[in-house]
Amino acid sequence: MAAVPPMLLERLEQSYQLHRFVPGQNPESLATVAPEIQAIVANGESRVTADFLARFAAARILAVFGVGYDGVDTAAARAQGISVTHTPDVLTDDVADMAIALMLAAARAVPAADRFVRAGKWLQGGFPLSRKVSGARLGIVGLGRIGSAIAQRAAGFKMDISYWARQPKPGVAYAFHPSPQALATAVDILVVSTIGGQPTRGLINADVLEALGPEGILVNVARGTVIDEKALVNALLNRKIAAAGLDVFSNEPQVPEELLHLDNVVLTPHIASATLETRIAMSDLVMRNLAAHFEGKALISEIPHG
Ligand code: 8YV
Repeated sequence: MAAVPPMLLERLEQSYQLHRFVPGQNPESLATVAPEIQAIVANGESRVTADFLARFAAARILAVFGVGYDGVDTAAARAQGISVTHTPDVLTDDVADMAIALMLAAARAVPAADRFVRAGKWLQGGFPLSRKVSGARLGIVGLGRIGSAIAQRAAGFKMDISYWARQPKPGVAYAFHPSPQALATAVDILVVSTIGGQPTRGLINADVLEALGPEGILVNVARGTVIDEKALVNALLNRKIAAAGLDVFSNEPQVPEELLHLDNVVLTPHIASATLETRIAMSDLVMRNLAAHFEGKALISEIPHG
């Protein structure tokens, strides 16, 4: 689990009395202090269960440092009178940029080409041909803020864009496909930018990967859980798909051992929103939500209800 970054911890410490809980590490201090805690800060990967929340009887706000809050039991939070905020919008550009970076890196084999040069292999001959991105067919799984920002960028690459979402988006010109499998059949590159958690667990399964096909490229900037990771490893090992660019994994920071040895996979350590500018903006938003809460004002970015 990635921790709340030092830049936010420092700011929290300046304004509040801060207690840090590391899961499994300080159960005694949790038991003593938890009932008095008024606000909780977690990150996008934190597991905030009903049992955990039940210890924080006085807490009325949970501010998530991240747009995703799939690890939070939001029903339990609501039942306990805890408002949950997150950090949408401020990270959209970075995550979309990273999706494009992974798409280009995987299709054009940029990291493999870099390794090739460093290993002195260029002296023995040329690098294998890669795949053209401009003009290719792009499928986006999940056309929310981030998916739409990916589509905007892809339009600059003259890509033919289509998407799957739980509902067709009104007023959107891109072609809608009724299932991830139908979308995968119709495209060259599939980018996953949907929410995580139970509703999308294993959405990209063996059938979807099969449909993407041996020339297909998969990119994931959403959550590792959206992809059946075993099926993905199998598809990559057996060349059922051509390549993948992955920023997220099922059991971070663990990455399936097999992937570490594959040249056609680009791996990054969940860094899509990790630029200095965006992490400052995310920290600002957490601080502003906490301030609004304690001043009795409307929260800036509460999670959607329902
Ligand atoms: C962060 C994220 O990596 O916003 C999200 O949902 O996964 C990321 O922006 C995370 O929240 C920071 O630990």
